Amino acid sequence: MTDPEGTGPEAAGAAQGCPVHPDAPLLSGLEHDQTPSQLYRRLRAEHGAIAPVVLDGGIPAWLVLGYTEVTYVTSHDELFARDSRRWNQWSAIPEDWPMMPFLRHQPSVLFAEGAEHQQRAGVITEALEAVDQFELAHLCRELAERLIDTFAGSGGAELMAAYAHALPMHAVVRLCGMSPDSQDTEDLVRDLGISLDASESDDPVAAYRRAQERIERLVKDKRESQGPDITSRILAHPVGLTDEEIVQDLITLIAAAQQPTTNWICNTLRLLLTDDRFALNVSGGRLSVGQALNEVLWLDTPMQNYIGRWAVRDTRLGGQHIRAGDCLVLGLAAANTDPQIWPEGHIGAENSAHLSFGNGEHRCPYPGPLLADVIARTAVETLLERLPDVVLAVEPYELTWRPSILMRGLTSLPVTFTPVVQ
Ligand code: HEM
Repeated sequence: MTDPEGTGPEAAGAAQGCPVHPDAPLLSGLEHDQTPSQLYRRLRAEHGAIAPVVLDGGIPAWLVLGYTEVTYVTSHDELFARDSRRWNQWSAIPEDWPMMPFLRHQPSVLFAEGAEHQQRAGVITEALEAVDQFELAHLCRELAERLIDTFAGSGGAELMAAYAHALPMHAVVRLCGMSPDSQDTEDLVRDLGISLDASESDDPVAAYRRAQERIERLVKDKRESQGPDITSRILAHPVGLTDEEIVQDLITLIAAAQQPTTNWICNTLRLLLTDDRFALNVSGGRLSVGQALNEVLWLDTPMQNYIGRWAVRDTRLGGQHIRAGDCLVLGLAAANTDPQIWPEGHIGAENSAHLSFGNGEHRCPYPGPLLADVIARTAVETLLERLPDVVLAVEPYELTWRPSILMRGLTSLPVTFTPVVQ
């Protein structure tokens, strides 16, 4: 891997002062949420591949916009590490900061570094590797059929809430060993949904506590009686993680799997329903669904930004002075559409060289993308098979994106179709 700066980390300068340009833009709000590509274009023109931005509450950070630079940052853990306690801004961050749940250090695989991370990620990878993809496809088909049954007779549905959100969550908690059709599973799915994606009427902190207690119970039960599931495999692993570590990693795994897979399903359905290139094949085209899934990873990637990495020491990157403890936001969507890798102007390829699953030591553990593909593909194909004349219930321009720095997902996806008599 080459140093994009051409100077090497050794050339790091002892940069002083605030790393942020005084008029750095907020990495949220209308422009970011609805037309992020315009914001990235402007930032690239003004600053190059690494742009100063501010997060909610005026907290400074760097947005890494370049494909080469995201690859460089994620490949150099010794320079850009994962433990958020390295952040030089904690004294400026209030306790009720909206991003606190994502960024406060927890003893999970997400924030672990070095040998500890290798061990924890290795255990998760082995537990995910043992998932049988055919059984998972079968489970997802069954879940999809059941969800579609709840609205097929009505001739219309809001697919984000009624389908794309519920399916991956049910699939993942079942993979973790929750029993089918139990009230406990339903409650866990509901509480995790609230804690990850709270609406104004919900209490996400209370929901998170209840979800954590259920996962603690699951781990305790599986200690007594193991089964063919992810939790049992993690418990049985010779590394011997503690129950507390296992609970943290299961919550991480469920959250990491559910939200992006939900957005992958919805963004793919949106593409299929709004783009003429797919319209003719929508009801049967296996190839077409596969192409749409891949195109979304390049152009509307479910996790558009990922926070992040923290500079271990002062350094230079993309012409900017980065200070020890500065936060770098991985601009995954910006990197995928970096004009440097698409000099012809045409963005997107049939390969999977995008950065949508991250890169380096902390990248999405490699069975993760395969399992997400099984879940998303089965969800999209089953819906199109069951409701072959499904169309958008609104004009494409009326679809809006949820306000989120991290996720790229629709607020809602209303559709209509011929009611199915059951
Ligand atoms: C469309 C679906 C998915 C997307 C876009 C996605 C993307 C990502 C990204 C961007 C990261 C951070 C990478 C980095 O820091 O460099 C990540 C981490 C992770 N993902 Fe995924 N993911 C998806 C599905 C899944 C699934 C299905 C699972 C598990 C069944 C999973 C488990 C994880 C875990 C455990 C981590 C933490 C890895 C670590 O810090 O070592 N993901 N994912």
